[in-house]
Amino acid sequence: MNMKSNIVFFILILTTFNLHAEDGHNLWLRAKSTGSVNIVCERRSSTLDIAKQELEQSWQGKDGAKLVLTVKKDKAIKYDGFKLSDNEVQANTELGILYGVYELLRRQQTGQTIQNEISNPSYERRVLNHWDNLDGSIERGYAGRSIFWHDNEKGYAVTDKEKNLWKEYARANASIGINGAVLNNVNSSKLMLTPQCLEKVKAIAEVLRPYGIKTYLSVKFSSPSLIGGLKTSDPLNPEVIKWWKDKVKEIYKIVPDFGGFLIKASSEGQPGPQDYGRSHADGANMMADALKPFGGIIMWRAFVYEANSKDRACQAYKEFMPLDGKFRDNVIIQVKNGPVDFQPREPFTPLFGAMKKTSVMPELQITQEYLGHSIQLVFLATMWEEFLKSDTYQEGVGSTVARTTDGSIFPQKHTAIAGVANIGLDTNWSGHHFAQANWYAFGRMAWNNQLTSEKIADEWLKQTFSPKEEKAENSNVSDWQKNFLIPVKQIMLESREAAVHYSMPLGLHHIFAGIKNTHYGPGPWFAPKGTRIDWTPPYYHKADSTGIGFDRTTKGSGAVSQYHEPLSSQFENPATCPEIYLLWFHHVPWDYKMKDGRILWDELCYTYEKGVNEVRQFQKDWDKIQPYIDAQRFSDVQSKLRRQCRDAQIWKDGCILYFQQYSRRPIPFDIERPVYDLNYLMKTDLYDILK
Ligand code: GCU
Repeated sequence: MNMKSNIVFFILILTTFNLHAEDGHNLWLRAKSTGSVNIVCERRSSTLDIAKQELEQSWQGKDGAKLVLTVKKDKAIKYDGFKLSDNEVQANTELGILYGVYELLRRQQTGQTIQNEISNPSYERRVLNHWDNLDGSIERGYAGRSIFWHDNEKGYAVTDKEKNLWKEYARANASIGINGAVLNNVNSSKLMLTPQCLEKVKAIAEVLRPYGIKTYLSVKFSSPSLIGGLKTSDPLNPEVIKWWKDKVKEIYKIVPDFGGFLIKASSEGQPGPQDYGRSHADGANMMADALKPFGGIIMWRAFVYEANSKDRACQAYKEFMPLDGKFRDNVIIQVKNGPVDFQPREPFTPLFGAMKKTSVMPELQITQEYLGHSIQLVFLATMWEEFLKSDTYQEGVGSTVARTTDGSIFPQKHTAIAGVANIGLDTNWSGHHFAQANWYAFGRMAWNNQLTSEKIADEWLKQTFSPKEEKAENSNVSDWQKNFLIPVKQIMLESREAAVHYSMPLGLHHIFAGIKNTHYGPGPWFAPKGTRIDWTPPYYHKADSTGIGFDRTTKGSGAVSQYHEPLSSQFENPATCPEIYLLWFHHVPWDYKMKDGRILWDELCYTYEKGVNEVRQFQKDWDKIQPYIDAQRFSDVQSKLRRQCRDAQIWKDGCILYFQQYSRRPIPFDIERPVYDLNYLMKTDLYDILK
């Protein structure tokens, strides 16, 4: 560009699009009203007041239109669902009205029409799990420190500033239908149930309540002995039973709508019933009985695996299936989407579609522990859609994970879904502007587990980035749609697959560098002496001179047998196993012929290369959208994409060069040569070197 065209370009940017810095703090809730609305509502309450205020603040419908809010029982409306028309929101509950209002406003902002329709949530409980520690740090948090807890110096005091932040948080959640928050880490502190801490919980719950968000806590199973002065925490001991009953009573006295407990027990060193020779059911039921009179529930996690077991992926099924039918009806087993641990790609955990007499809830991870932290742009909705739509065949074709968990196939007393939050004190809440989309997507899918990731991306982008009113006349909406919405949506929809390609393609999993347990960079080589083998990548990829991959067939660990037919046979046979799961289920020779005619080794190299190229393309596409976005968010994302490209390159180089030692084959000559040296990568932790 010459000087003159440079200036013209710059002026164009200034006049066409607003360069006001946007720091992302307003999330998807940026809309301002464009006219007035005449609200008719006979009742008053804090929740209804919020609904009215939202309408006044963000109404973009016909100026002066009348809108009636009616709380009236209707059998077709479930839980806090609602009935929506152009001029009325009707619901069984006040919270239903609030949800209906948010939906109405969303439709206005995203240009969607409203027919007379009913919207019911797929799950009764739509819960964020915060892995926040009481000292303010967050396990696997990449967006700053906790919004709920801070270091001991400040103790448990509550400031107005904090309350305001919790209110904004609650509003964002309510706008997408989230109705529960577990306030602390599953690796819980024993202090959580002390009176001091509970006072703070009370203060948080008071702010969240008008927005319909119930408060839950993660608690240590051994609390009776750790803070209760008892000699044991054996779930069958009468004193222990009484301790929990009393503690629950104490909680409900100060938080009358308390949701219940989330428990990580007998898992990764956490105490649990097995320490006393009791089963998960003994432990969960004892606590469930204490909560029952108050309507509380137990979310009992199935994330269990023994040290050095032959196949960690089999463990949850083995431990929990024999207990099917033994749990109280206010216990829900919380199961991670994949059988290992929130990997970029896993088949669904076979417990979905296996337990028939027990309530089961999916646990998704919104925070990007294994998917690039808040450094990489990875939209997770496509992964969750793949998971929710996976067919378990529990009751024949069409028994998707979604339907086995939302009560459509088996009546469950309670239905729920959880997402591990990605929220912290960072101004934009989630670290990366696009990580907000994952929080948004979780809420939307929890409300409607049939929503497509395309629709979610579309509505999120429109609300989060669409040009503001004060823009100059020559900015027109269709321009923005063509030049921003469409290409950026494309980036989002391809981003998770790209991450799989440049990190763990073809069913590879858990091959992260372990030096600092960051789960960020590649480390297929990582296996220091003395480390538990199931915490080292070679346990998962099993590369040797004969091939690569984990044999989970009936000749190997037998994990395939945990799936219903026809899946079991399909996974068993490499010819019918989907190639995206090939190395998950099979140890395959390096010269194994893939469907496209390439040998496995070449396919692996090409896929890594493809992943890197995909991110490079994201970079180019992002640069092109500069005229259509505010400067701050443009450059924030641009610089994160640079880092993502470098790191994708490191993944590719590290993995290809390491596996080449076993394949002993050349890297196909038409792909870019590695630029990093394997020895260098093996000595470094990616998270540190390129920070
Ligand atoms: C992963 C994660 C841990 C977490 C655990 C869990 O292993 O790395 O930080 O505590 O999952 O889900 O309990």
